Amino acid sequence: MNTLFFDSSHSDDIRRRHLYNGQVSVFSPRPSTVALCDFARQLSEEAFSPFDPRDAQHHIPAEEFAAILAKLKPKFIHHPKSKDLVRGMLEDFGCDLGRTYFDVPRMRTMAHGGYLSSGIAYALHPHRDTWYASPLCQLNWWLPIYDIESESAMAFHPRYWGQPVPNTSSTYDHYEWNRDARRSAAKHIKSDTRTQPRLEKEIDLEPQVRIVCPAGGLILFSGAQFHSTVPNTSGRTRFSIDFRTAHIDDLAARQGAPNVDSAPKGTTLRELLRGADLSRLPAEILALYEDHPAGGLAFDEDLQVWYRPEPITHS
Ligand SMILES: [Fe+2]
Repeated sequence: MNTLFFDSSHSDDIRRRHLYNGQVSVFSPRPSTVALCDFARQLSEEAFSPFDPRDAQHHIPAEEFAAILAKLKPKFIHHPKSKDLVRGMLEDFGCDLGRTYFDVPRMRTMAHGGYLSSGIAYALHPHRDTWYASPLCQLNWWLPIYDIESESAMAFHPRYWGQPVPNTSSTYDHYEWNRDARRSAAKHIKSDTRTQPRLEKEIDLEPQVRIVCPAGGLILFSGAQFHSTVPNTSGRTRFSIDFRTAHIDDLAARQGAPNVDSAPKGTTLRELLRGADLSRLPAEILALYEDHPAGGLAFDEDLQVWYRPEPITHS
C-alpha cells in the first residue's frame, strides 16, 4: 500500500485496479452510504432501547447484550431493505450491477475492553480475508455506523501486502467451516470455538495504518489486505457494517490481488448475489474456484451458506 485515495472519482474499472495493487479508497459520507448506516442505526437503537447502543454495555450484563445482538444481527443481514440499500450504494459508486456480485451486509460490533470477548487481545486477530477462501478479486466495503476513534478503528498492516506471513489457511475448508457454524447455531453456542486461519507465529504488526472516517464514510480495500480489528479502548461499543463484492470479469480472468500466502479449500463465491437480480454466479465461474470436490453440498437457509454435510473420507 502506498496510496490512500480520498473521494476519488475513478471509474469502477480503474478503482479495482488500484485496490488490487494494494491501495485503499476512502469516501466521505454520501446519501447512499448514509442510508445503509441509518437503517442499521435505527434497528440497533430499537434493539437496545432505552440505551444508546454505544453505551449499553455499561448498563446491562454481557449475556443480555449478546442476546440482543443474536437477534439484531440476523435481522439486519436478512432484511430485504439491507440488500436494496447495498445495491443502491453499488450503483452510486459506479459499479455495473449486471457484472458485480455482493454478499449480504453484516453488522459487526466490537465492545469496549474485554466485555464480550475472552480477552482484549482476541480482538486483534490479524488476517487476510483470502485465508477464508475469498477470491483474490474480492473487495471489502467497510462503514462505521457511528463515528469511530483511532482506539476503535480497524488497522491495516501495509508491509505484508506483498510479503507472506506464516499462517494456517491451508487447514481451512470453507464448506467444513460452514457446517460447523450450522452446528454451533443449532446448539446456541455463544462463543465461536471454530479454529480460524491465523498467524503461526508472532510478527511485528507495526507500522499500522488506521483510517478514521465519520459515520457513513466508507473504507474500500482488497480482501487480500492484511488487516485487524483494533482492541477497542474508546469507552464505547463500535458498530460497523461490511460486505464484499466481486466483479465477474475479474473472476473469469482469475485476476485480482497477488496471492502471497493464502491456501484455503473451497470458495465463498457461492454466497454472492448479482447486483441486478440477486442471481448466483454461473457454474462455469464457480468451477474455476472449486479446487475441491464440491458435489454433495447442502444449503443452509438461515445462514445463507453452502456446507458439506459429512467430512470427506480419504480411502
Ligand atoms: Fe477481514
